[in-house]
Amino acid sequence: MDLVNVEVGSEQLQAQAHIWNHIFNFINSMCLKCAIQLDIPDIIHRHGQPMTLDALVSALQIHPSRVHCVNRLMRILVHSGFFEQKKLTLDGQNAYVLNRMSELLLKDNPSSIAPFALSMLDPIMMNPWHGLSAWFHNGVDPTPFEMVQGMSFWRYAGQDPKLNRLFNDGMASDARLVASVVVNEHKGVFEGITSLVDVGGGTRTTAKAIASSFPHMECTIFDLPHVVANLEVSKNVRCVPGDMFEAIPPADAILLKWILHDWSDEESVKILKRCKEAISKGKGKGKNKKVIIIDMVMENQKSDKEMIETQLFADIMMMTVTSGRERNETEWAKLFVTAGFGDYKISPMLGLRSLIEVYLS
Ligand SMILES: C[S@@+](CC[C@H](N)C(=O)[O-])C[C@H]1O[C@@H](n2cnc3c(N)ncnc32)[C@H](O)[C@@H]1O
Repeated sequence: MDLVNVEVGSEQLQAQAHIWNHIFNFINSMCLKCAIQLDIPDIIHRHGQPMTLDALVSALQIHPSRVHCVNRLMRILVHSGFFEQKKLTLDGQNAYVLNRMSELLLKDNPSSIAPFALSMLDPIMMNPWHGLSAWFHNGVDPTPFEMVQGMSFWRYAGQDPKLNRLFNDGMASDARLVASVVVNEHKGVFEGITSLVDVGGGTRTTAKAIASSFPHMECTIFDLPHVVANLEVSKNVRCVPGDMFEAIPPADAILLKWILHDWSDEESVKILKRCKEAISKGKGKGKNKKVIIIDMVMENQKSDKEMIETQLFADIMMMTVTSGRERNETEWAKLFVTAGFGDYKISPMLGLRSLIEVYLS
C-alpha cells in the first residue's frame, strides 16, 4: 500500500490521539509516584488550608532550577484527579487542596495506599514489562519477571531485603484499608468462628484487625519464613512460618486474601486442597468451616469503565509478575469443585474485589 497516497482524515488523527494516550499512559503512574516521593499530599495536608503554588514550592525544598516545573507536575496531577484547585477569595490566586484520592496517599493516614503505590512502581517490578513480548516467544520461563530477574518473584523477595520490605509494606497498606472495611461493615462473615489461619497473611495486618474485633478468636498467620522472620511477638496473633503447598495449620476457617490470584489454576487447586484438609481437622461446625477468599471476581458486578480497566490491568500484572490470573465466577467455581468443595457464596462488597466464602458442603 502506498501510504503517501492514503488520505489522512480526522478519524486517523483521532486514532493517533488514542494511541498517543496509551503510549504516554505510564506518565500518570510516574507523576503519581513522584508526588508521593516528594511528599506533596502530606505537605498540603500539613499546611492546613488551601496551598498556593508559591507556598508549595517553598515547602518542597527542591533544587532552585526545578522550581518552575512544579506547576506542570501539579497541573497533570489535578487533571488526573489527585488534587483540587480552589480560588482564594482575597487575591484570586489558585490554591491546591486534597481530595479523597490524595487523602489516601497521606503517609500517616492508617488507610494510606502510598506504600502499595511505591512497591508496585519500583524498578524491580517495572523491568519485567520491557520483556513482555520476548516472553511470548520464550516457552521456558513461567513469567516475564522470572525471565528478566532470573528467579520467581517469591524467591527474589526472599533474597532481597529491600524488595521484601517494600512489598510487605505495600501489602500491609492494602490490608489496613480492606481489613477495616471488612471488620467494620461485614463483621458477620467472622461470627461463630473460633479459630482462623490467615494463609499468606504477610506482616499480620489483616489478622490483627480481625483479632481485635473478635478477641476470643484464635488467630494465626502463616507465611514464608522471610516474611514472618522478624515480626515482633503479638499477644493475639500467632505466627507460623511454612509453605502453603505442603500443609496449613488446622482451624475453623482459612483466610486467603490476595493469594489465589498469584497462582495458576493447578497451583490454586493444590492450595485449596491444603485449606480443605486444614478446616476438616479444625473444630468448626457446618457453615463456620469455610475458606474466606478476598480477590477479584471479573465480570461480576456493574463495574464502570475504569474499574474494568483496573481489573484487566491486575490480570496482566499477575501474568507478568507471578503465575496467577484474575478470574470470573465460572473460573472460581471450577477451582472450588476441583478442590472438592461443595458450595460457595460471592459478596461483591470490597470495591474492585469480592469476598467469597467457600464451604465443604
Ligand atoms: C499478594 S501477598 C498478600 C499478602 C496478604 N494476604 C495481604 O493481602 O495483604 C501474597 C502473600 O503470600 C505469601 N506466600 C507466597 N508463597 C507462599 C507459600 N508457598 N506459602 C505461604 N505463603 C506464601 C507471600 O509471602 C505474601 O505474603
